[in-house]
Amino acid sequence: MKYRLYAPGPTPVPEEVLTEMAKPIWHHRTPAFEKVIAEVREGLKWLFQTKEEVIIFAASGSGAMEASIVNTFSSGDRALVVDGGKFGERWWKICKAYGIEHDIIKVEWGHAVSPTEIEKRLKEKEYRGVFLQASETSTGVAHPVKEIAQIVKKFDKTLLVVDGITAVGVFPLPMDEWGIDILVSGSQKALQLPPGLAFAAVSQKAWAFVEKSNLPKFYFNFKTEKKNLEANTTAWTPAVSLIQGLRVVLKNMKADGLEKTFARHDRMARMIREAALAIGLKLFAPETPSNAITAVWGPEGMDAGKIVKYLRDDLNMTIAGGQEAAKGKIFRIGHLGYYDEMDMITVWSGVEMALMKMGFRFEHGRGVAKAMEIVNS
Ligand SMILES: Cc1ncc(COP(=O)(O)O)c(C=O)c1O
Repeated sequence: MKYRLYAPGPTPVPEEVLTEMAKPIWHHRTPAFEKVIAEVREGLKWLFQTKEEVIIFAASGSGAMEASIVNTFSSGDRALVVDGGKFGERWWKICKAYGIEHDIIKVEWGHAVSPTEIEKRLKEKEYRGVFLQASETSTGVAHPVKEIAQIVKKFDKTLLVVDGITAVGVFPLPMDEWGIDILVSGSQKALQLPPGLAFAAVSQKAWAFVEKSNLPKFYFNFKTEKKNLEANTTAWTPAVSLIQGLRVVLKNMKADGLEKTFARHDRMARMIREAALAIGLKLFAPETPSNAITAVWGPEGMDAGKIVKYLRDDLNMTIAGGQEAAKGKIFRIGHLGYYDEMDMITVWSGVEMALMKMGFRFEHGRGVAKAMEIVNS
């Protein structure tokens, strides 16, 4: 049976990219590979919508999250963390691991943080950084980054660090225009690659703190990587195959353009949201949904985990379940990266088949029909 992957990461990789990555390994200290790095540097700047260097690490996305903290903080600095889900939690866990004092703004799962609350906290104490997700993958929420950036900009000593792991390449996050200080991402999401590359774009405001930072670091060192990137190389052995794949992905994304890419993600997200509502299901984050992933409440009194299990066991399809308190209550569909409208029709058909099997009463095919209407509208 054909395997179908609809998780919010890892996501499918286009055939052209797979083929590129299957080519014989190039040595990284060669003029030919330096050309690849040069092209990738320009492409990443375009994607992150910045003039600044985008640092590349061979790591999963969490590596770039950790790097953002250890490269900008010094002992005694304090962090303000927005925790509205599993990945918000990760920010303060990294702070804790490095003994960084931090305050947490706890946000109810399924909701976005209030910018006013952030402003209030920033007026009360000095923080070196405000940390949040642009798209909180565990809940399907998009936090209001633009509004928060306008606030953080007013505080000279505070950096805005945004986890864009399921946001970069999905919806607009123009780093320079909005004033984001560090924007982090990973390869296995909208960048249409296997896991293994982590990215961090760093503003001039942040570089000033990088110069002063005294937290311990070795591998995840922004300064060392920047110096090497400027010479079109990397400090350590890079993930050469992934970087060759990245060159192709960026070339193709550029050919499509950001506007078209964001519009495609918006359309796919609307298809899933409207399909769910059309058969009487409720969205987990109805007010501030992310275009990367949709979290849907399972039918009242039914285990939503069974939908995920049916898709996995009977249809060879992967979607994601809920985590922690949302386990068994919600299911999550990823629609970021190498997907199109027909993928949405397919995954939603699978969900409806699961619901039929579970005995949920609804008009069969109604959600699929709604999704089709959106494509044709
Ligand atoms: C929003 C968000 N942040 C951080 C991570 C962690 O990334 P990784 O698993 O690549 O370390 C993920 C992974 O799903 C994510 O979705």
